[in-house]
Amino acid sequence: MDLKRRIPLLRWSVWRMATGVRNVTTTGQIGDGREAAAVDYVLRNAKRGDVGHVLATIDKYAYDKSMLMNVGDEKGLILDAAVRRADPALVLELGTYVGYGALRIARAAPKAKVFSVELAEANAVNARQIWAHAGVADRVTCVVGTIGDGGRTLDTLADEHGFTGGALDFVFLDHDKNAYLPDLQSIVDRGWLHPGSIVVADNVRIPGAPKYRAYMREQQGKLWNTVEHKTHVEYQTMMADLVLESDYLG
Ligand SMILES: C[S@@+](CC[C@H](N)C(=O)[O-])C[C@H]1O[C@@H](n2cnc3c(N)ncnc32)[C@H](O)[C@@H]1O
Repeated sequence: MDLKRRIPLLRWSVWRMATGVRNVTTTGQIGDGREAAAVDYVLRNAKRGDVGHVLATIDKYAYDKSMLMNVGDEKGLILDAAVRRADPALVLELGTYVGYGALRIARAAPKAKVFSVELAEANAVNARQIWAHAGVADRVTCVVGTIGDGGRTLDTLADEHGFTGGALDFVFLDHDKNAYLPDLQSIVDRGWLHPGSIVVADNVRIPGAPKYRAYMREQQGKLWNTVEHKTHVEYQTMMADLVLESDYLG
């Protein structure tokens, strides 16, 4: 692995990302056009209809052009294994960005319907182009909104997309780190999970979701069984991160 891949601070796009953090919380993007450029790169370079090649092309863009906030290739392997273990029919991701995580889930669960909730319309537009290029647009859907928007998005999932009692097999939390716990609680309150549903949470160490981690520790063996995966922040190997994989005990 070359030095720029291993050491993120050697890359300008990583420094630019740090200065764009304020944009991310309001617009869902870094603010320098890298997400639209990533879509353009994928449409020009990735084989149409080849999910694996589309994912590899997004990873290549994130390593060689501009860093992206995807779950990425290393943590993606943890996500893939958890999805395969759940063998889901219905999946909910929170936080779409350019559509990489949902695409990984769709590859690991070829029969699943995948719904991804995203705050920013511009990210939904980007992700839909990537999913169409990969050939999964018929079973991967972006819903623009948030779980905390007073019930509007939760109702859309229930009324239009078949989210009913016990129907939800897998949840991927990868959005606002402060919303992990309240949003999961809202999902539990709707009764959509069943014993054996699996929830994976990214970035529990960086940027960090301490309340979520403390809750899962406190609930160990009661409502949830959690495994903490030690890993790295996406697209480099210097900064440690944690991914939590939790089984719902119901
Ligand atoms: C880390 S990125 C998601 C990466 C994606 N899961 C992947 O692996 O490719 C976080 C995304 O969450 C979105 N976001 C932030 N707060 C949100 C919220 N409360 N609800 C839904 N999406 C949110 C941001 O706009 C951004 O696109």
